[in-house]
Amino acid sequence: MSIGVFDSGVGGLSVHRALVRKLPAADFIYLGDQANAPYGGKSGEEIVELTKAGCVRLFDEGASLIVLACNTASAIALRRLQQTWLPGYRKSLSRPVNVLGIIVPTIEAATGLPWEHESERRGDKVEKVDILAVFATRATVASRVYEIEIDKRRQDVAVFSEACPGLAQMIEDGAGAVDLAKTIDAHVKAITTRIGRPPDRAILGCTHYELVADIFRATLPRGCPIIHQPAATADAVERYLERHPEYDPGTGGARRFLTTGEPGAQNALVEAFWGGPVTFEAA
Ligand code: DGL
Repeated sequence: MSIGVFDSGVGGLSVHRALVRKLPAADFIYLGDQANAPYGGKSGEEIVELTKAGCVRLFDEGASLIVLACNTASAIALRRLQQTWLPGYRKSLSRPVNVLGIIVPTIEAATGLPWEHESERRGDKVEKVDILAVFATRATVASRVYEIEIDKRRQDVAVFSEACPGLAQMIEDGAGAVDLAKTIDAHVKAITTRIGRPPDRAILGCTHYELVADIFRATLPRGCPIIHQPAATADAVERYLERHPEYDPGTGGARRFLTTGEPGAQNALVEAFWGGPVTFEAA
């Protein structure tokens, strides 16, 4: 058995890398749906269907637990699949399987509170003292998931989201640092203007953006911390496996990488992030 990691493309490698560091003995199988990337501009229906197909593929390969290393899939598809598809699908298999997303650990990291904690809403107005900027795909921003879930837990935090259409695709295509910096700078300027001042903290709410986190760091105001989803997710998955020994992560240390797109080595930007070549097999 193994841990499956799913993304539309190479972005989920950021989460995969953190998971592997945390759970080195586990067997991992990665699937990038590069034939259909990017997901960020697709309809909810399409995102749900593509995410389901990716999960089936990973379960077929022997995954017991799948991590949706994609905000867009986690925000748009996860709850739907858990409610409408997974219970029936689970019955058709003779082993325990589950799918986890990356929004919950990110909200926990951003609020400093466990997911179960929903603050009591009091009538009096709470001053927003902490301005959090979320950079994400169009679909994730449209879902307002970060605004809604953070507001339920921390009324002193104001969330502003900035859709960065095209940025995930630039990373898939291995765009150069100058072009990436220009695009990221424009988004940081746009959200700063909208807020009226620089943000206090930032979430890279698309796993692709972690591959260019250094450019975000250089572009965001000095002292504006970035909440990193890969680390938060790896911690959460480790704790989840401790609580749920029924999901078998394997012990062989296997690493396989599948793509629905063109098999082969990934671009130089991915290699620089990964620290060496990453070769995807045909799914
Ligand atoms: N990496 C994904 C995310 O975290 C999706 C990017 C895309 O395919 O548009 O949202």
